[in-house]
Amino acid sequence: MPTAVTPGPSVAPPPLPPASAAVPPTQGHAKKARPDAEPATAPAAGTDAADGSPPAASQPRPSFGSRRLVDKAAVWENNAWDHVTWEAEEEAAARAVVAQQAQAAVPAGRQAELEQTAADQWNAFYGRNGVNFFKDRQWLANEFPEIFDSDAAPAGQAASDAAPPIVTKRILEIGCGVGNTIFPILERNQDPGLHVYATDYSATAISLLKEHALYKPSRCTACVFDVTSPDIPPCLKPGSMDIIICIFVLSAISPATWPQAAANIQALLKPGGLLLFRDYGRHDLAQLRFKKDRYLAENFYVRGDNTRVYFFTQDEIAAMFPGWEVMQNDYDRRLIVNRKRAITMHRNWLQTKLRKPR
Ligand SMILES: C[S@@+](CC[C@H](N)C(=O)[O-])C[C@H]1O[C@@H](n2cnc3c(N)ncnc32)[C@H](O)[C@@H]1O
Repeated sequence: MPTAVTPGPSVAPPPLPPASAAVPPTQGHAKKARPDAEPATAPAAGTDAADGSPPAASQPRPSFGSRRLVDKAAVWENNAWDHVTWEAEEEAAARAVVAQQAQAAVPAGRQAELEQTAADQWNAFYGRNGVNFFKDRQWLANEFPEIFDSDAAPAGQAASDAAPPIVTKRILEIGCGVGNTIFPILERNQDPGLHVYATDYSATAISLLKEHALYKPSRCTACVFDVTSPDIPPCLKPGSMDIIICIFVLSAISPATWPQAAANIQALLKPGGLLLFRDYGRHDLAQLRFKKDRYLAENFYVRGDNTRVYFFTQDEIAAMFPGWEVMQNDYDRRLIVNRKRAITMHRNWLQTKLRKPR
């Protein structure tokens, strides 16, 4: 039975280069890489707009990587390939793996417990890992330039604690963790009118984030917010956000709670505001390598540390926001090559930009 680690094409890999010349691995988080984590490099920079095979609803986009596997015999020549299409057999094998996983679903009582203790599980996660788990999202400017389109601070108006500037742009991150997205934003976007709202369900994550040297209340407000709850905390004003960022957070909540999460996002964004989303795509390696007793519901799993993860399709994320303008809704599919073990692995992420109607 195939797993996520699919055998490579039936072409023998060439001899390995000397160790000193070996290509560094593509995956990795700061210190303790969780096997299902997104590569720190993702998305790769590139200029491959020409035949990026974006879905019909999307605009051509140059940002995803440019390493194209045209000749399958050349698969071992790179450590990763971009925009990889799946063969029908690979799709079928992935579906078979998922069907097998579904045979051993987590009992309903345990599932309810995981839902009730979700914040505790994430608090425990950050209690164990502190700020060392996720890597700063340095790809933001490449993939989400809208975040930075007001970064010119007029001379003498650099943001400071002394004189809080008039806020002209509000960005909210939901599920911010310890700030691996918001601090690169605050560092790079020096617009004195920018204010960033950093929210997470985990109180432990929020207190770690507040200890960061770049956390300045004149530029940033951090508070606990459960995106699945109908209660919006007082730190967030409905209808005020220009941009909401959700990076690997909607995958952490139960599909049953998506309608409430979507309603909150809708309520918090201004008319014409943008939702920027990046998360796990359907049949990513991380999904297919879940073993027995991790299956909660269709495409929803519990990890060994009791946090949960969902694997999205393009249609699902678009359907959460009916009537919104779809500015981008693309898979970022990569084939990761391990020449030493002569295997290839499919990674699949989803990147979406939606505009709330004006
Ligand atoms: C995989 S981490 C991603 C963290 C961060 N966005 C990043 O990419 O580095 C998922 C985050 O979502 C948060 N989270 C989980 N459930 C949530 C909820 N119901 N409301 C808000 N945040 C939640 C977790 O505490 C955790 O910080």
